[in-house]
Amino acid sequence: MNKRFYITTAIDYVNGQPHLGHAYEKVVTDVIARSRRSLGEEVFFLTGLDEHGQKVQQAAQAEGKSPQVYCDQLAADWQAFAKKLELTNDDFVRTTQARHKEIVQAGLAKVFSAGQIYKRTYEGFYSTREETFLTDKDRLPDGTFDPSYGEVIKLKEENYFFKLGEQQQWLIEYLEKNPSFVQPDYRRNEVLGFLKNNTLEDLCISRPAARLNWGIPLPFDKDYVTYVWFDALVNYISIPASHGDATVTGVLHSTLHTPHSALSLWPANIHVIGKDIVKFHAVYWPIMLKAMGLPLPKQILVHGWWQKDGAKISKSTGNIVDPVAVIDEWGLDAFRFYVLRELDIGPDGNWTDAGFKSRYQAELANGLGNLINRSLSMLKRYRGGVVPARHDELAANAAKAADETRALLKQNQLQSALQSIWGLVTRANQYVDQTAPFKLAKDPVQAERLDEVLYNLTETCRVLAVLLQPFLPGTAVKIYAQLGLAGAPDKFSDASWGGLPARHKIGDPAPLFPRKDA
Ligand code: MSP
Repeated sequence: MNKRFYITTAIDYVNGQPHLGHAYEKVVTDVIARSRRSLGEEVFFLTGLDEHGQKVQQAAQAEGKSPQVYCDQLAADWQAFAKKLELTNDDFVRTTQARHKEIVQAGLAKVFSAGQIYKRTYEGFYSTREETFLTDKDRLPDGTFDPSYGEVIKLKEENYFFKLGEQQQWLIEYLEKNPSFVQPDYRRNEVLGFLKNNTLEDLCISRPAARLNWGIPLPFDKDYVTYVWFDALVNYISIPASHGDATVTGVLHSTLHTPHSALSLWPANIHVIGKDIVKFHAVYWPIMLKAMGLPLPKQILVHGWWQKDGAKISKSTGNIVDPVAVIDEWGLDAFRFYVLRELDIGPDGNWTDAGFKSRYQAELANGLGNLINRSLSMLKRYRGGVVPARHDELAANAAKAADETRALLKQNQLQSALQSIWGLVTRANQYVDQTAPFKLAKDPVQAERLDEVLYNLTETCRVLAVLLQPFLPGTAVKIYAQLGLAGAPDKFSDASWGGLPARHKIGDPAPLFPRKDA
């Protein structure tokens, strides 16, 4: 059994509806998953929901529902959202599932018996809104706490803590020896800076059930539930365990998997996450895994945050982008294209409606859409839709785009890959203008030249469909259908020049990105 290329997103808090930030992370992960499949790897793509905690408990109460009913209803919306984005996820985790809870408890039991979890009294400040303990270090210069913490109370409470203190040094060394563990580099440097300049405080991993009961009970003390991160992060291994992954089940026994369908998944190849949760993934998670006796993930790939019109996305101020509304108006691939082309994985991005429309018109409608439509329409008009004999005038351009795209996809450089693909789109549009097939068609002496030009254009459209498939899957399939080709352009190796045989008959051209001139 081959180990699969295992890629995950963060799991979203179930309270509220999905927004641009959630959509972006999922689309990025989907493109990486699709591109690896196209490049011939077996992939397992996991996304899902983080359903426990005080906020969920309170929101459910406010609506007069049980937390489980509340989660079930919202989970249906989030699953519909994954479909709307046409994600190719292989599973969808919900942290309220028995298969997840079992592994959280097995992990806690293991770490507890290794002496890495202990109980102590905490006395200090506590933010109920953020469900978190605060120290003097969290105070602002004027002595108050940031308003985002809401009401901060004094609290004295016994809780369980996970020992982190002794773990700092090996993690620093690990990060130094494995530069690709956290990417981009500047995020890795931030983590290293944090580890070198701070002493890790032990992590509180419980809440008393009397105060918060919407959580997974600690296996060694039923009066407590697991606090969010020891629950949420474990989804990355609980789902492999539920698929019989031997690396995880060898350490954490699972009774809930079906052995005949065992998959080999762990360690994950990539955890895709946003910049706000780097510490949990690059510091706490490796330490938790080591304590459980499991190998570390290969890479934590950190993306930036989206703003809209230069300001924070926020429901309360109404500064939001509703991905579903954008998709309904402009189409899924236009949405996927804009977020991937506009923002590289790493820096922060800024959504503007004007920027979206301008990329739609220039790059999709006038660029790609126009190329495909005029190329296929001319083949139809001048040659009855029948492909002429092979000719290689654009072969080198296509090969360059394919080689660059392959290399860039392997490094998760999605934005640069799109730039390279658009290099081919631009070249081919230029080629139409330079060779002017509409003029050649008027001169019978130029019939052979017209055949050559039409072959180059039609074959370029086919290569583009293959290169674009991970990014714009619906468009790629439409291009293939218009070319009269069966199946999906989902094998990268099909991007080599010359795939269209002479005398093949194409289908009917139709605009891919209708112009919207409003
Ligand atoms: N439940 C935790 C993650 C647990 S992972 C084991 C969580 N959930 S979240 O719903 O708040 O965020 C989910 C993901 O969405 C995170 O990776 C976060 O960075 C990302 N984003 C949330 N808002 C975002 C933007 N405005 N822009 C881009 N991504 C953002 O954290």
